[in-house]
Amino acid sequence: MVLRPATPADIPRLVALERTPTARHFVGQWSEERHFETMTGGDARYFVSENDAGELQAYAILRGLAEATRSLELKRIVVARTEQGLGRKMLHEILEIAFSELHAHRLFLDVFEDNERARHLYESLGFVYEGTLREAAQRDGHFCNLRLMSLLDREYAQHKK
Ligand SMILES: CC(C)(COP(=O)(O)OP(=O)(O)OC[C@H]1O[C@@H](n2cnc3c(N)ncnc32)[C@H](O)[C@@H]1OP(=O)(O)O)[C@@H](O)C(=O)NCCC(=O)NCCS
Repeated sequence: MVLRPATPADIPRLVALERTPTARHFVGQWSEERHFETMTGGDARYFVSENDAGELQAYAILRGLAEATRSLELKRIVVARTEQGLGRKMLHEILEIAFSELHAHRLFLDVFEDNERARHLYESLGFVYEGTLREAAQRDGHFCNLRLMSLLDREYAQHKK
C-alpha cells in the first residue's frame, strides 16, 4: 500500500502541495479550513502517501460517500514528484477502495482539457470520456474547459481482469 488515511495534522502539508506550480496549474487551492470541514464532514475520505523519511509525497480526496447514489467523485489527486509512477499506484489503490470497499457504482472526476498526463492515466485505467464542461474553470484569468470522465463498477471489474 502506498496510501494511508489522512488526519487533520496532514492538512498544512497537503495545502502546501496543492500550491506548488505544477499542481496549481491543474487543481484548485482550498484553505486549511475548507479541507478540515471536508475531511471531517462525513462525506469524504482523504489519503496521503509519504516516503520513508515521512515527507508527504501525494494526497487524494474521494467524496460523495454520504450520497445514496453510490456515485463517488475523485475530487483531487496531487503528486509531488510527477512521472515516477506514484500516481498510477495511488489510482490502483483508490479504485479498489472505491469499488470493493465502498461499493461505488460509479467513480467520476473532471480534468482540465490540457492535462494530458492525467487524462492518459485515467483513460489507461478504463475511465470513459463523458463530455466537456465548457469554460467551467478559471486559470490565470482565463476560462478553461473541463472534461468529465467516469468509470462504472462493471467496467472496473472487466478492466481488472
Ligand atoms: C496527474 C498526476 C496525479 C499523475 O501522477 P504521476 O505520478 O505523475 O503519474 P504516473 O507517473 O503514475 O503516470 C503518468 C503517465 O502519464 C504519461 N504521460 C506523461 N506525460 C504525458 C503527456 N504529455 N501526454 C500523455 N501521457 C503522458 C506517462 O507516460 C505515464 O503513463 P504510463 O504509465 O502509461 O507510461 C500527477 O502528475 C500530478 O499530481 N499532477 C499535478 C496535479 C494534477 O494534474 N492532478 C490531477 C487533476 S485531474
